[in-house]
Amino acid sequence: MAQSTLDIVKNIVKLLFLVVYHWLVAIIKAVLPVSMQAKDISGETVLITGAGSGIGRLMALRFAKLKCRLILWDINESGNLETKSKCDQLGASVSTYTVDLSSRDEIYKVAKKVKEDGVHVDILINNAGIVTGKKFLQCSDAMIQKTMEVNTMAHFWTVKSFLPDMMERNHGHIVSIASSAGLVGVTGLADYCASKFAAVGFDESLRFELEYLKKDGIHTTVVCPFFINTGMFDGAKTRFPLLLPILEADYAAGKIVDAVLCNQAMLAMPRILYLFFAIKGIIPYKPGYLVSAFLGAQNLMDDFKGREKSE
Ligand SMILES: NC(=O)c1ccc[n+]([C@@H]2O[C@H](COP(=O)([O-])OP(=O)(O)OC[C@H]3O[C@@H](n4cnc5c(N)ncnc54)[C@H](O)[C@@H]3O)[C@@H](O)[C@H]2O)c1
Ligand SMILES: *[C@@H]1O[C@H](CO)[C@@H](O)[C@H](O)[C@H]1NC(C)=O
Repeated sequence: MAQSTLDIVKNIVKLLFLVVYHWLVAIIKAVLPVSMQAKDISGETVLITGAGSGIGRLMALRFAKLKCRLILWDINESGNLETKSKCDQLGASVSTYTVDLSSRDEIYKVAKKVKEDGVHVDILINNAGIVTGKKFLQCSDAMIQKTMEVNTMAHFWTVKSFLPDMMERNHGHIVSIASSAGLVGVTGLADYCASKFAAVGFDESLRFELEYLKKDGIHTTVVCPFFINTGMFDGAKTRFPLLLPILEADYAAGKIVDAVLCNQAMLAMPRILYLFFAIKGIIPYKPGYLVSAFLGAQNLMDDFKGREKSE
């Protein structure tokens, strides 16, 4: 039966009211200090992939300080154990697992072990990532494939492993560490950008699904940082550091943890990126390209060295 005009008008008025209400809430949350809106996560279990280095390790330390239990995954056992011993010193309870995130079987196997130990993962942080850092035709097939597996597919398998339990409890938080390269293409990062765009799309769709299913106790956060000085992007350079600074790893880790505490859906850093993304949405292609090239976005990877890779 067709809805009456009155019903439609009523629904539109209701929608407008809710839009204005939630817009105001978003503005208030954006200006309110973190301490005034942070959720209490003490005693919760945080699983971090790629915890053996970089921001994965620094996030682990921050969650340890917040009295969380930690489950640390990495392919690099010694790096992971180093993170564990630093967290141990803070009094945290920490388990480490050596996992190759490019293998779905291994992810499922280790996830099963975690669950069999009776652990409920409250916060899942998909952080591990790799980069080839070459122009597309110079990227080996193996690296292209691995980049998609670690930066994107691993997110599918970890979420498939731990979301069902979160759904049952209507409680949890899934964090995708993507990149600013997940929102704009970059010369020399084609496979990486593809993997990060995918991670962004996965987060957004998952968030919509959870919202639609009224799972209001489960949150997602997608993180889109510009370069961070962890070593992963060593040699990459920014033309106007005042406009687009390379981020300090500990600052970035702190912002991510704050975003989790505030149930922030999306975090881009530095802040000016929000403006760039908005401009990208309305400017035609060629002027956009010229501006991005002027800003150095097409030369970011010219002198890239990165980490030593065993291809
Ligand atoms: N560093 C940056 O400039 C930057 C910028 C934007 C986004 N990011 C993203 O942030 C995340 C963390 O980056 P980082 O700078 O801390 O890098 P990092 O290289 O310091 O740490 C990455 C960790 O992931 C682990 N890892 C790699 N492949 C793995 C695999 N197959 N299985 C299991 N673990 C694996 C590594 O051993 C390492 O400990 C990545 O997803 C990266 O793409 C980094
Ligand atoms: C593994 O971690 C150790 C300790 O942090 C580091 O020295 C080493 O370079 C890492 N190995 C690889 C292959 O990344």
